[in-house]
Amino acid sequence: MAFLLALDQGTTSSRAIVFTDSGEIKAVEQKEFKQFYPKPGWVEHDPEEIWITQLEVAAKVLKTAGLNPSEIAALGITNQRETTVVWDRASGEPIHPAIVWQDRRTADTCQELRLAGHLPTVREKTGLLLDPYFSGTKIAWILDHVPQARTLAEAGKLACGTIDTWLVSKLTGGQLHITDVSNASRTLLMNIHTGDWDEELLELFQVPRSILPEIRPSSEVYGEVDSSQPLAGIKIAGIAGDQQSALFGQTCFEKGATKNTYGTGCFMLMNTSTEAAVSENNLLTTVAWKIDDKIEYAIEGSVFVGGAVVSWLRDGLGIIKSASEVESLANSVSDSGGVILVPAFAGLGAPHWDPYARGTIIGITGGTTAAHIARAAVDSIVFQVADLLDAMRSDTGVSLKELRVDGGASVNNALLQFQADILQIPVVRPTVTETTALGAAYLAGLASGVWNSRDDIAHHWEVDRRFEPQMAASKAAELRSRWGNAIERTKNWVN
Ligand code: G3P
Repeated sequence: MAFLLALDQGTTSSRAIVFTDSGEIKAVEQKEFKQFYPKPGWVEHDPEEIWITQLEVAAKVLKTAGLNPSEIAALGITNQRETTVVWDRASGEPIHPAIVWQDRRTADTCQELRLAGHLPTVREKTGLLLDPYFSGTKIAWILDHVPQARTLAEAGKLACGTIDTWLVSKLTGGQLHITDVSNASRTLLMNIHTGDWDEELLELFQVPRSILPEIRPSSEVYGEVDSSQPLAGIKIAGIAGDQQSALFGQTCFEKGATKNTYGTGCFMLMNTSTEAAVSENNLLTTVAWKIDDKIEYAIEGSVFVGGAVVSWLRDGLGIIKSASEVESLANSVSDSGGVILVPAFAGLGAPHWDPYARGTIIGITGGTTAAHIARAAVDSIVFQVADLLDAMRSDTGVSLKELRVDGGASVNNALLQFQADILQIPVVRPTVTETTALGAAYLAGLASGVWNSRDDIAHHWEVDRRFEPQMAASKAAELRSRWGNAIERTKNWVN
């Protein structure tokens, strides 16, 4: 039997999972790390803490699985996307905290670029929008705010990258400075049609080419872990952004296959094969992966706050002690009692794209309890996903027969039932919901010969439970209309 190690570096925790060659989980380890909110709308991580927690859980999961590094066929990396690190090439030390994907500090720069008429070019070349979500303006911000950084960057003394790049650099003792094409497609700097950094975009976003990593395919033996590390000698053979990795892990290999991941945010991706489909409803065109020299694409709806609303109930409001308590608290009432919570904590992503929106809770009465707020928080995840599916439907003309789901909150049966009710289509949960990590393991296993083809992988996918819609369509429509009303009230709040 062969084993694969997946490193899943997410927004709130670093995880490591060992999979068997039949796609089953052998062992999991996870560690949360600190979120920094230095100013309203700013979100930072400590890159060293990301690395240390990731290494710790990776070393620990091998122990739990009772395996030595030599028994691991290969490792795959999947990561929170867009989050940006800039470091000194010589010392390997970051020159600034990582600016997280949720961070809004470059909203004004994006607006200036929009007003100057750059959106059509950006959209055509990158499939993205001018929003602070993506890495390009974050890199430039660091270069412009850390003393000497721009000069050092231009002299080739600094390196930058998304979290995949940072981890590979650390794992290989600074030998490799690479990213994969799916992560690069989230920077605003890569032309998604060529798969290469684009001079015009580099100029526009003021990012010198000398600090950027080399763009590589998503499944390939890139190198191996440095001999000084606990994972010494393991081949690094797969890299993908976490949402693309989840699409792969859900074996959404065919055109039209779609998944939704309930993570910190919620991300719905539809495979569009070799066609870089253009959205008319503010969805993103993104690279799904590049395998065997062929780039494949997806259309994506990104919601910034999904599971993070549950963390906020715990850490911000303090109405639950652990995230797992939300299900019983929310289910202790039959509905939200008319309360609607819009968690636009980091502005609104797809399909609204308003970096100046902020959250709201509306419909509170004297009878509102913590349980109603918890219920409204869980409902907000469902409503946001429904907005994504509508946009995807009208973009692609594909009327989905079912939605495959995964991620942390997909263990919540009540949430998935409500999702099926509101979408009015079945929602299907696979046996392995760790599909983000599974996708990275698959990519690494394909490159290292554990599997020969995607067909070899596809038959591992199994249904755990199917949630059929039970709510009347008219009731679902009424609830969604109230939600739409509340969303409008959050827009353009801090501009
Ligand atoms: O684009 C951001 C996304 O990659 C973050 O994913 O799983 O940490 O919510 P997650």
